[in-house]
Order: sequence, then structure tokens, then C-alpha cells
Amino acid sequence: MKLFEPLTVGAMTMPNRVMVPAMVTHLCREDGLVNDEVIARYTRYAEGGAGLIVVEAMAIHQVKSGPLLRISEDGYLPGLRELARRVHQSSDAKIVPQIIHFLKVARTGWRQTVDMLSAAEIDQIVEQFGDAVARAREAGFDGAELHSAHAYTLSSFLSRTNPRTDEYGGQTLEGRLRLIGRVMQNVRRKAGADFTVGVRFNGEEFIKNGYTVEDSRLIALRLAELGFSYLSMTAGGKFEDAVHTEGQVLFPYSGYSGDRAMPGDWLPRGLNVRNAAEVKSFLMSRAQRIPLAVAGKLSDPADAERVLQEGSADMVAIARGLLADPDWPNKVKAGQLDRIVECDYCNVCKTMDGTHRAVICALWPKNTLQAPAHNAPGAAPRWTNGGSGLAAALKGVRVVLNWRKASGAEYYDVYRSDEGGGEPKLMDAVKATLWTDDGVLGGKTYRYRVRARDASGRGGPASDPVSIKTPTPDYMEQ
Ligand SMILES: Cc1cc2nc3c(=O)[nH]c(=O)nc-3n(C[C@H](O)[C@H](O)[C@H](O)COP(=O)(O)O)c2cc1C
Repeated sequence: MKLFEPLTVGAMTMPNRVMVPAMVTHLCREDGLVNDEVIARYTRYAEGGAGLIVVEAMAIHQVKSGPLLRISEDGYLPGLRELARRVHQSSDAKIVPQIIHFLKVARTGWRQTVDMLSAAEIDQIVEQFGDAVARAREAGFDGAELHSAHAYTLSSFLSRTNPRTDEYGGQTLEGRLRLIGRVMQNVRRKAGADFTVGVRFNGEEFIKNGYTVEDSRLIALRLAELGFSYLSMTAGGKFEDAVHTEGQVLFPYSGYSGDRAMPGDWLPRGLNVRNAAEVKSFLMSRAQRIPLAVAGKLSDPADAERVLQEGSADMVAIARGLLADPDWPNKVKAGQLDRIVECDYCNVCKTMDGTHRAVICALWPKNTLQAPAHNAPGAAPRWTNGGSGLAAALKGVRVVLNWRKASGAEYYDVYRSDEGGGEPKLMDAVKATLWTDDGVLGGKTYRYRVRARDASGRGGPASDPVSIKTPTPDYMEQ
């Protein structure tokens, strides 16, 4: 598979093209220091076979903001060095920190915007990025990634809604690009021309008057010309449409643009691939061969492989899919697709992020901070005493399923197929033995199965299927 072909990115060679994009863990404390849980989270990705691990956003400045890693002073170096060393010891995965500058937010809903920054403060940001990347190099990381996406400072300058009226202003594309341009110039000066430096950017903002791929392909071109080593495309995640909860600081993933950044189960798979393909082909037409990564519901192995085969991107970034199962790369490589703990995009992890609690996956065993071991002893879950007992009942325009507990089960995958045929589709992964389907059409026959899995994804036999016909709505009657 192309997924497992090596790729040279800047000065590093990734053993394969599977990237863990940055995912805040909130495993550190307010001191921002690397601790054992942080190291355990990232070594687990390395052991699971990822090619490139981007460590969660770490701040380049000293601003109060809950449990967030920091790279703003030399005092953080010992912990960061240990993190890089332990990941390198675990596998041949490459590791880069994502480095971030963000503006102030208050519980009242107030937030600082880019037009409030003085020229001196902008100069300071330029210096802080340079210093942070130099520190990443000193800590032994393989590179660094600038966070120029979502709701954060660099991205807010790039935004079409940038309200500044000076040379960094939002009226012109060049004005919007000026800060990232100056930052990169300084990064190269301070961290060297030979250090791998990637950048994450939005392919589309998904806010009113926000930019679309019409601009992001030009932004990508300029980022390539600036000498970045790779581009990583994401989307949305803006403050402009965030929904304020009384007494809480604004969470930039609470509005529609937030849904596009961390798409839930109701959004389509691979939803950023079209934008990535457009940017990639635009770059190629300008002879820019800079590697491009794309994220967004790409945890289906066939989808991930197709992105690479079709040349839409050069790396596939899988966040929640690898949180659910850090062994995804090894399992896909070994053809053990059936062993994958499949992310159902329930977004419990996103909720934990929004409330500054340790980010975990709802499919892991209760009260654990890390993904379960992949080689846990024991047998696959099994149905006892007369099978699963899977039954389906109608409750209005919903179908309600229930079944018996399987021994050794941590959770259950629920599959559905309809009378039109086609492959059974994974509908959900649940810990309870009850599931409600509120997305059926009336007047059709649906067929369900459930499959018990242990914590590492080892599945028992599927239940016998159960079929049910939904009532035809009265407006369909002749
Ligand atoms: C809990 C959580 C934390 C995240 N933290 C970051 C972050 O620090 N930096 C970033 O660029 N993206 C962050 N993201 C976005 C992911 O990197 C990724 O782009 C997004 O989840 C879509 O990819 P997926 O569908 O594979 O999960 C986070 C996502 C989640 C769910």
C-alpha cells in the first residue's frame, strides 16, 4: 500500500505516510511541563506504527490557559528532550511539536482580536516563533510545525475577516500573509535553513465571509515559496461563529466551523479531500512539490489509501481514529482490518478538550488515560447462553435494538444494511447493550447485526441478523 511507503519531508524521512496530527491531550498540568502520561500517549502512537507524530499544540508565550504544553522558555527543554528521546527509542517514527500563539480570551466571552495588537507585539510574536522552533531543534525533535489554522493568531491574520487596516490588514491577501511571512523568515534565521518546518493551515474557514479554496490555494503557494517543508490541511475551528456558554471562555469548536474542524458522525467521511486535491494540483501546476497532508474523517483504511493513490495528498493525517486505536497503522499494514477499534466520531474527546479535561476515547476501558495494550492476553468476546438475543422494535419512527452482554466485551459495534443491498455499514460503537436508530426511512426493511469487541478491538462472532420493517408514513399513502 502507498500508505506504507516512506516519504522524505524536509530533512527527515518518514517510514510511512500516516500522520498523527496535533491533538491536545490536557495530560499535563497548568505548569505546561511534559510528564509521564504525556510521554505514554506519544510513545503509544510510535509503537502503533505511525510515520509522523505531531505533538499537541504547545505555547510559545507565557499566557495563562489551563493545562497546555509549553515551549516558551528553556526551562521546558528537559521534558521536551525526554519526550523526543522516548519516541525515537520506541520506533522509527518522526516527531515534531506543533507550536502555537493564541490571543487572550475571557470567561465573559470577550476575546482579543488581531487588530488590538501593536506593532511591537507583532514583532514579539515573530521573535517568539523563531525562539520556539530553535528550542524544538535543541530538544531533539525532527522538526516543528507552526499552527496557522483554526482560531489562533497566525490563522486569524490569514483570515478574510482580519480587521486590521495596516500592512497586516485584511483588505488584501498580501496583507494577511505578511505575519506568517515574517515569522518564517525569522524561524529560518533562528532555527537554520536545514531544519524541517511544517505548517498547518485551513483549506477553508467555514465562517461568514471566510476564505475558501479560492484563497487557500494561493496561501498554500506562498507557504511553499516561503520554504516550509510540508503543509498540513485542516478546516474551520473559528471564534467568529463560536457559541458562548455563560461563564466559560469561548471554545472555537462550538459553532459550525468547529463541526467542520472536528466533524461528528453526521458529517461525511474524508470531507477535506476535495480541497486538498485542488490545492495539490494547483501547487503541482506551479512546480511546487511540497508534501501535503490532509485530515478529516480518514480513518477508513480504503479511504486513506485512495487519497494517496489519487494524488490528492502525500500524507494522511488521522487524529481521532488513532486516538481510538494507536495500533491502526500496524493493523492496517498487517491486513488486520477486523482488529481495528473504529472511531465512531462521537466526539467525547472533543468535549474533554472543550472542558480542559484529559482527552480520552470513549471506547477505552473506563478510568484509563491511555489506549489499551494491543497484545492483551485472553480470547475474543463471545455470546453465552443462546447467543446475542439481538432484538429490534419500533418506537415511533425509530428502531430500538437491544441484545445480551457478551463475555469479555468492552464495547459493541452496530452494523446496518438496508433492503437496497450494499455492505453493512458501521453505525455506532457503544458500551451499552441498547442502541436507537433515529435515521431510518419509513416503509423500508433494515437488517442489523452487532459485534462484541474487547478493549483492543478483538471481535467475537457477529450476532445473528435481525430485520425489521419500518412503518410507511401516512403522507406516502395513496
Ligand atoms: C481532542 C482534540 C484535540 C485537538 N487538538 C488540536 C491541536 O492541538 N492542534 C490542531 O491543529 N488540531 C487539533 N485537533 C484537530 C485534529 O488534529 C484533526 O484535524 C481533526 O480532529 C480532524 O481529524 P480526524 O477526523 O482524523 O479526527 C484536535 C482534535 C481533537 C479531537
